[in-house]
Amino acid sequence: MIQWKRKDLLGLYDLSAEEIIFILDTAAEFKKVSERRVKKVPALRGMTVVNFFVEPSTRTRVSFELAEQRLSADIVNMQAQASSLLKGETLLDTVKNIEALQVDLVVMRHSAPGAQNFIADRLKCGVVNAGDGAHEHPTQALLDLFTIREKLGGFKGLNVSIIGDILHSRVARSNIWGLLKLGANVTVAGPSTLVPREFEELGVRVCHNLKDAVKDADVVNMLRIQHERQNSGFFPSIGEYSSWFGIKSATLQDMKPEALIMHPGPINRDVELAGEVADGENSVILEQVTNGLAVRMAVLFLVAGCRK
Ligand code: CP
Repeated sequence: MIQWKRKDLLGLYDLSAEEIIFILDTAAEFKKVSERRVKKVPALRGMTVVNFFVEPSTRTRVSFELAEQRLSADIVNMQAQASSLLKGETLLDTVKNIEALQVDLVVMRHSAPGAQNFIADRLKCGVVNAGDGAHEHPTQALLDLFTIREKLGGFKGLNVSIIGDILHSRVARSNIWGLLKLGANVTVAGPSTLVPREFEELGVRVCHNLKDAVKDADVVNMLRIQHERQNSGFFPSIGEYSSWFGIKSATLQDMKPEALIMHPGPINRDVELAGEVADGENSVILEQVTNGLAVRMAVLFLVAGCRK
């Protein structure tokens, strides 16, 4: 058993396989708490957590807030649109002012890659990355890993295909780091504009054909087309993208019958994933959301434990 020593959770790139497994094991214990009639534990009683989302979020924000409530923390939710960032205050000044109020943890989402690393280096309080640009989304990858382990028992030799807008995806990057460390084989697939060959340098297989990508996959993780991060045409039209890389009922014939279909959400229904597949038997999408709560409780519990 390892001892957790990090005051921040910034990404999976920095974590060892042992640390990742330790988080998943801790999350498994917290999942049991959420299945009880009384779903609350006093682990963070007396601690204050600020949720600071400078980019939109549904799942991650609600899941973190619920995780903090279940751990009995005091919570403050800050919206960037209602903060003094709009008056020209720098991000660092904003978070230093938050820290001056004796806050213990800051959970932050930001559109700038590395923003959380930047503030974590300069704050004594803990920082948890809730997604930074196209860089990392560690708790999403951890909940994906948790779901895979719960469903399939482990990672060694598992074939995982991540399909879609890999270029702009923090979810893909965090999943790649985690899956490779744990011994899975990773394929990334999509149009060459969104899945350049350079990704091979990370140790993954690059594929530009959906049938090849899904054929031997034990897990197919579909990613959202990120309209908000695209400033040039990466494919001719949404319809064209969907016809080449969207998973439809017919695509299931080309896959292992028991393959898991995952998606971090939000889904563009009938673009990357047909509605009947998103809601079908292979889909574990809502189980991912459920597991996200346990994973975030584990992460908050571990980093809070490093507060001096
Ligand atoms: N998966 C995910 O990060 O979803 P939100 O953007 O809704 O938080």
